[in-house]
Amino acid sequence: MKILIIGEGAREHAIARKLAESDLVTAIYVSPGNGGTERLGKCRNISKGTLSDLRDFARDNNIDYTVVGPEADLMEGIVDLFHEADLKIIGPHRKAALLEGSKAYAKDFMMKYGIKTAEYEVFTDFKLAEAHIRQAAYPLVIKADGLAAGKGVEIIETYEDALKTLEAYMLEEKFKEASKKVVIEEYLTGKEASIITLFDGNSILSLNSTMDHKKIGEGETGLNTGGMGSLTPNPYFTEELEKDFRKNILDKTLVGLRAEQLLFKGIIFFGLMLTEKGTYLLEYNLRFGDPETQSLLETLESDLNTLFMKTLDGTLQEEDVVLSSDCALCVVLSAKGYPKTCEKEIDVSSFFDAETDQVSVFSYASKVLQERILSSSGRVLSVVSRGQKSECFKNVYDFLDENRNENLYYRNDIGRI
Ligand code: AMP
Ligand code: GLY
Repeated sequence: MKILIIGEGAREHAIARKLAESDLVTAIYVSPGNGGTERLGKCRNISKGTLSDLRDFARDNNIDYTVVGPEADLMEGIVDLFHEADLKIIGPHRKAALLEGSKAYAKDFMMKYGIKTAEYEVFTDFKLAEAHIRQAAYPLVIKADGLAAGKGVEIIETYEDALKTLEAYMLEEKFKEASKKVVIEEYLTGKEASIITLFDGNSILSLNSTMDHKKIGEGETGLNTGGMGSLTPNPYFTEELEKDFRKNILDKTLVGLRAEQLLFKGIIFFGLMLTEKGTYLLEYNLRFGDPETQSLLETLESDLNTLFMKTLDGTLQEEDVVLSSDCALCVVLSAKGYPKTCEKEIDVSSFFDAETDQVSVFSYASKVLQERILSSSGRVLSVVSRGQKSECFKNVYDFLDENRNENLYYRNDIGRI
């Protein structure tokens, strides 16, 4: 079988490596891929191109199915384009992609189907939004409606700051179209959990729970990032909370998807807040998470290729998904200065040379130059180990100690807070 993966990050590198383990898979093409996928057996990077170029590539090369990493391609309608050409692809069509691409749409869907979520209001009129923040309780959360590369959510303590954010989003159009409409919502406190599931158009099957660390600094301080590490399973997601999640969020989501005819074959990622008042849904993503995927797939015993094929056929069964009772820890290395400006072209080849049976290394956007792998993004590597909890921590942090690079930064408390 031949598979096409779209994306260039560590998430796509981890998906490619897992799919390569399947005996049925003969070739994996990654567009554009990175220095890590280029080194992977069965794998070949192909240039980026437009969505139509990718469709043509899949058709001309008899690709069995395509997996999409980045949300922007889903919102742009890559799934609809592939379906028109009778090509199989994992992901939501454009209509369903709005559950990730528009926060107002997602919140209205949650409200309509009784899915537990923070209280909210949607505004397109600046004056009405301003009147709302004048009488609102603080802290509150202001969200740009559309995709903003993870930067469109702000937690706000005072009226003055709320006003500044509304002005930036709605009047100065900080995120262009994406921030003309805003969602203002109740602030929730608790621990977050990411639940990544497969949806075959009939049922939603959960993989392991995962914990993501979004802040750059230890102790969850400083600026938000794309994610600085992950731990699978999430230690705070108890059996009791899982039941609560199924009853109040997952089952009702399925009811809503059926009623609104939003059926598709792909991923549903539930971003949860575990609070004293139970489990709340913060957001849907309709793709794998990064860095969740890097630790999550290490704990998946089943063949990912088989799961994807069954997802596409609509025949996924509960027993198909076999999860290990092991943990997996993923620590992200970023270029110094990230998430502000940061250095590029850091040579990370030695990390791949140092990989062991216990420690895997996944690359973010990077290129290969004369056999060397040079970074080209703020987040640079994901270092992952699976096993008993204490073993994973030791394996990853010993590896990082032994392979120091002064241009790279990582947090020492991933999975521990
Ligand atoms: P979202 O894209 O909606 O998941 O928001 C991004 C991040 O903002 C989440 O992962 C949380 O850390 C934070 N966040 C979003 N909504 C809330 C909320 N209602 N209360 C507290 N934190 C939130
Ligand atoms: N780690 C969260 C995301 O991928 O959106």
